[in-house]
Amino acid sequence: MKDNKGYYGRVSRWLHWGMALLIVWQFLSAGAHFLLDETAVEKFLWPTHKPVGFAIFVLMIIRVIWALLNLSNRPPAINALAKVGHIGLYLFMIAVPLVALLRQYGSGRSFEPLGIPVFAGFEGEKISWMTDLGSNFHSTLGWVWLALIVGHIAMAIWHRKSKSQKDIIPRMWGRKS
Ligand code: HEM
Ligand code: HEM
Repeated sequence: MKDNKGYYGRVSRWLHWGMALLIVWQFLSAGAHFLLDETAVEKFLWPTHKPVGFAIFVLMIIRVIWALLNLSNRPPAINALAKVGHIGLYLFMIAVPLVALLRQYGSGRSFEPLGIPVFAGFEGEKISWMTDLGSNFHSTLGWVWLALIVGHIAMAIWHRKSKSQKDIIPRMWGRKS
């Protein structure tokens, strides 16, 4: 279940790959919103953006706690860039859904993804620092995060293919030997 110095354990692997699928889906819905406005694809994908984004937020909390619990007992980063990159991936994973949820709360609208009452709405003035934070940063941080994810995937593949590099994919996928 737990991580060790040689490879990530079952919980980290499920979180990594399960969240990777949800995050890909999330960027498909964001991409449809950006590029395919008013099309059938957008009408299908966009309504999933808030519920899936909320699921990513909840899983992110579990993942951060799990990472902290395993911090002294995980596979060591292969180099300083990998370490900074993984910390960066975590910071975006926290910030992107967080600023969207703050905007949602600050707008005074209730939030009930899939009927789950997360918070109620309120009457009166919007909380402008919350709505501004979301409007100014949610989509920009989202796209920057996507670039970082593409870089992360490219590095994982490069480390596997390059003869001079250590293949780190078995740490996260496949047999733990
Ligand atoms: C990790 C999760 C999330 C990712 C990666 C993500 C990504 C994005 C991206 C890239 C855009 C820009 C789309 C465009 O340019 O048209 C966007 C827009 C939007 N997202 Fe998210 N999002 C996430 C979570 C959420 C959550 C939890 C909510 C709501 C509670 C939300 C609400 C919105 C809304 C209303 C927009 C359209 C307005 C805007 O561009 O800021 N997102 N999202
Ligand atoms: C789609 C979004 C993805 C995100 C947000 C993401 C994020 C992360 C993070 C934060 C880590 C550090 C370990 C942890 O705490 O979980 C990690 C490790 C890793 N990821 Fe991803 N990942 C994604 C997709 C992928 C894909 C598609 C691949 C395969 C090509 C991949 C391959 C790996 C590998 C091999 C490691 C272990 C690296 C090492 O220990 O040096 N990831 N990933």
